[in-house]
Amino acid sequence: MERIEEEMMSENKFLTLAIETSCDETSIAVLSGDREVLSNIISSQIEIHKAYGGVVPEIASRHHLDNINLVLEEALGEAKIKLKDVDLIGVTSGPGLVGALLIGLATAKAIAYASRKPLIGVHHIMGHICANYIAHKELEPPFLAVVVSGGHTNIVDVTGYNTYQVLGRTRDDAAGEAFDKVARVLGLGYPGGPKIDELAKSGNPQAIAFKRVYLEKDSYDFSFSGIKTGVLNYLNTQKLLGEPIQRADVAASFQLAVVEVIVNKAIKAAQEMKRDKIVLAGGVAANSLLRRLFEEACEKADLKLYYPPPILCTDNAAMIGCAAHYRYQAGFVDDMSLDAYPNLKL
Ligand code: KG4
Ligand code: ZN
Repeated sequence: MERIEEEMMSENKFLTLAIETSCDETSIAVLSGDREVLSNIISSQIEIHKAYGGVVPEIASRHHLDNINLVLEEALGEAKIKLKDVDLIGVTSGPGLVGALLIGLATAKAIAYASRKPLIGVHHIMGHICANYIAHKELEPPFLAVVVSGGHTNIVDVTGYNTYQVLGRTRDDAAGEAFDKVARVLGLGYPGGPKIDELAKSGNPQAIAFKRVYLEKDSYDFSFSGIKTGVLNYLNTQKLLGEPIQRADVAASFQLAVVEVIVNKAIKAAQEMKRDKIVLAGGVAANSLLRRLFEEACEKADLKLYYPPPILCTDNAAMIGCAAHYRYQAGFVDDMSLDAYPNLKL
């Protein structure tokens, strides 16, 4: 392990090629060292899946397959390097859609095999957290991470670059999933998170008191499945009463109910774990109310807050490259038996 570190430190340009295909973004990045991004190409399939109101796994896999070589060429071109210059290959191995993950894995394994370079499988959530190292060069563990995405909602105590303790997770829907489902019942289309964020800006967040679900007193777990039913019940009642529906008020009230619970639980967890930093990650970390309420709460609690720019919040390969680098530095290496693990635990 010491030898690896020396090798990486003496090399002024240790290049990592990273691949992310866990859901509906085909992304390939090139990193120099641990945090410098030379390219981060993201080919989104949102426009394709929009027609179905959500991601269709088989269609996602097919498009990854169609796109991946073009994305690879573009990532190498923008970084102004050749495949032979790459020192390390990182790839998301889970969790995610199995067919989608397999396209990224097959590509990464083929490159690693042909170039005889080390291969590292990366946990997708670890990648999301690492997006913050790219955005904030001074950031180091320990800190409390809040991972809020389309597939995950976790409160994680990050004690080192490769050591994580999950303090809480969702017991049903992920935060982003709740945004997407509520957007669908409001007829806003897919993906719903950004649409609700935008519409809520012109609504009154106090208009409707949707239930805040905190579960047991000391639990850091979440439950977001009930809120969609709450929104549906509200919409049906209004219709039966012949009352008008202010969609902006519904969006703003729903958003506040979800965000308030996340912020309160995270602040409590940071205080209990005696952390002085909170780090936001995942697609929902792009939410403007989430950022604002976290800023206010962190200032009050004397905690430092970090979050990545929106492009590094949602799925991208740069974050996977950063995580791969830290895993390699710690001595982890995978071989050709690396597989796709759709339900991989952190
Ligand atoms: O991290 P991500 O790209 O994919 C997963 O790993 O799941 O997150 C996508 C999720 C979607 O549910 C999307 O609606 C949500 O992030 N999202 C947002 C915002 N931007 C993206 N949710 C709320 N507000 C936003 N501004
Ligand atoms: Zn993600």
